[in-house]
Amino acid sequence: MAHVLITGGAGFIGSHSCVVLLENGHDLLVLDNFSNSSPVALKRVQELTGRSLECVKGDLRDPALLQKLFADAKAAGAPIEAVIHFAGLKAVAESVADPLRYWDVNVGGSCALLASMDAHDCRTLVFSSTSTVYGESETFPLTETTPTNPIHPYAQTKRAVEQMLTALAQTGTWRVASLRYFNPVGAHPSGRIGEDPLGIPNNLFPFITQIAAGRMDKLRVFGNEYPTPDGTGIRDYLHVMDLAEAHAAAINHLLQSDAPLSLTVNLGTGKGLSVLDVVHGFEKATGITIPYEVVKRRPGDVPKLEACPKKAANVLGWRAKRSLADMCRDGWAWQSANPHGYRKAS
Ligand code: WQD
Repeated sequence: MAHVLITGGAGFIGSHSCVVLLENGHDLLVLDNFSNSSPVALKRVQELTGRSLECVKGDLRDPALLQKLFADAKAAGAPIEAVIHFAGLKAVAESVADPLRYWDVNVGGSCALLASMDAHDCRTLVFSSTSTVYGESETFPLTETTPTNPIHPYAQTKRAVEQMLTALAQTGTWRVASLRYFNPVGAHPSGRIGEDPLGIPNNLFPFITQIAAGRMDKLRVFGNEYPTPDGTGIRDYLHVMDLAEAHAAAINHLLQSDAPLSLTVNLGTGKGLSVLDVVHGFEKATGITIPYEVVKRRPGDVPKLEACPKKAANVLGWRAKRSLADMCRDGWAWQSANPHGYRKAS
């Protein structure tokens, strides 16, 4: 068991991962600036697990703060042994409109974190990467050796950090893992924590749950003439609790390795689903009808993303276990109990 710094631990994937890591016995220090997350999530993580975690509000691009976190932990006799780095910006369209901000936060923030880690002899890191680094591929399923082709600043900044990590690992003193997430959805089965996008959701799944909750009236399906069986876009949706478990597997794998290590791993189910599969799956799991209309394609969307999940199974011993019905049921449990997310919550 280790003392682990979790950047962005109050966010959607971060908070679910904190639950699993605490249940695995790790001690956690969360650093989050709450720019797109709520401290209420961390309060609920502690309620769910019956364990406490330490939380500091602050920004990765504050070197004095990072220096203090590492130094204080060492002085208290519990040095930080590893980092899971979730913190970052993640909206594709926003990254196209404001690329500098994405390079500053995602790359500059990572660079500052890595420099502090290095200075404090903490060289074990799990990084949140994304399947969008593959861009539009011709061959499926996507394996970790499929060439990357990041086509927007969001994906480019994630790929840049992966490259920074590979270079660090080549110095022979780091253990790093870049986890390429496909499309995480759903929520903790308790309905106490979940995804809480600010404003109108960009992503399919929160849009659907907000229609079900009466906050939106209908879904706009972005295109039905893609080269896919029903013409709508295909993605590899996975349950956020499966994804959270993959982080525990990854950090344990790195901590157990005596040698330097540089890993890149896809995290998906290996089974792509179309937009209409998700709509109908949600309707079946919840009994709620989701009205929709087909509109034109969304710029930047690719027809299909689907993971080859074999490396995750072989190297980390991890597989996605939960079904689309589980994703829908748990996502709806969260949204129906928290129609306005963490706002107005206590
Ligand atoms: C899924 C499918 C849309 C909304 C993005 C990021 C990725 C990751 C997850 C991380 C597509 C269609 C969507 C809607 C629709 N980000 N859709 N109507 O674009 O695969 O991935 O989010 O934080 O890195 O790129 O996910 O959920 O937006 O879209 O028809 O209102 O649903 O066209 O086919 P995407 P998504």
